[in-house]
Amino acid sequence: MNSWPKVAKLLRNQTSMENSMSGLTQLEESIYNEGERLIPGVTHDFKEVRRHYSSYYFWRDAILMDLAQKGGAADAGPIRVVDLGCGVGHGCASLSEIPGVEVVGVDMSEDSLRYARQNYNRPNIQWLQADLPTFIREMDPFDYVVSRGVIEHIENGIEFVHGSNWKQRLMFDVPYDEPAGVNPHHVISEIREETFEPFQPAELFFQDLEGEIFSQNEKPPRPNMIICCCRAEDLKPLNAGLSFPYMPDWQAVGGYAVPEAPAEPSRKTLKDRLFRLFGR
Ligand SMILES: C[S@@+](CC[C@H](N)C(=O)[O-])C[C@H]1O[C@@H](n2cnc3c(N)ncnc32)[C@H](O)[C@@H]1O
Repeated sequence: MNSWPKVAKLLRNQTSMENSMSGLTQLEESIYNEGERLIPGVTHDFKEVRRHYSSYYFWRDAILMDLAQKGGAADAGPIRVVDLGCGVGHGCASLSEIPGVEVVGVDMSEDSLRYARQNYNRPNIQWLQADLPTFIREMDPFDYVVSRGVIEHIENGIEFVHGSNWKQRLMFDVPYDEPAGVNPHHVISEIREETFEPFQPAELFFQDLEGEIFSQNEKPPRPNMIICCCRAEDLKPLNAGLSFPYMPDWQAVGGYAVPEAPAEPSRKTLKDRLFRLFGR
């Protein structure tokens, strides 16, 4: 018998009980949304923070690799990057470190964007409140389109992201092979390698629970996320330019409170502890 729906219900009930006693502010609690959004340093545990930062730094390093291939400068004008479903904007802040970049963070959540403006504002980031299917249908071209842990929240999300208007690279990740019903916020489940056939040619990567990213031919035993990366013809495959397994150089990250050794979250939740036990 599949016990996941029961476990998911238990997690939801216990999480909402604990939240009311959690010490989160009203804004943080609304953003947290039963564990769906990470607020670095406020919610979730160290490994969750590391997984999120690892995805965004992987994409940052991919863009830096492209820049190096082009002699260190963009062809003309700024490099435009859009983060679809930016949440509180920590990923946009990481991407904003790339020289010559302009980042647009798009999310439907007004509360998350308010937090982003208060905590992750940078001169080269613009925040935009929008519903992604509409935004994607109407979007101007961006050099880079990235998205972390978002597409599984959207009906036909894979088709939408496939139709997004990117020029250099499309890079996004989603939970790998998550059974239906485990997470009531996810409307797409069981996303596996074959899901990405329409994206060919694409490179696939896997992120494990430690946040380490593996190339497709070194698939780890328990992938947590699958990352799909498409590129313009003149760009190098990421497999040829970055080393795998990939982990960001945390020393070089600078400016962000990413602890080097596992540390307890500042306001941890029961959901995170249970997630660690059940492995997702
Ligand atoms: C799991 S969070 C990930 C946030 C961020 N990418 C990160 O890694 O921290 C998913 C985000 O997608 C946003 N989202 C989900 N569906 C959306 C939609 N249809 N339009 C705009 N944003 C959406 C949510 O508001 C939420 O902030």
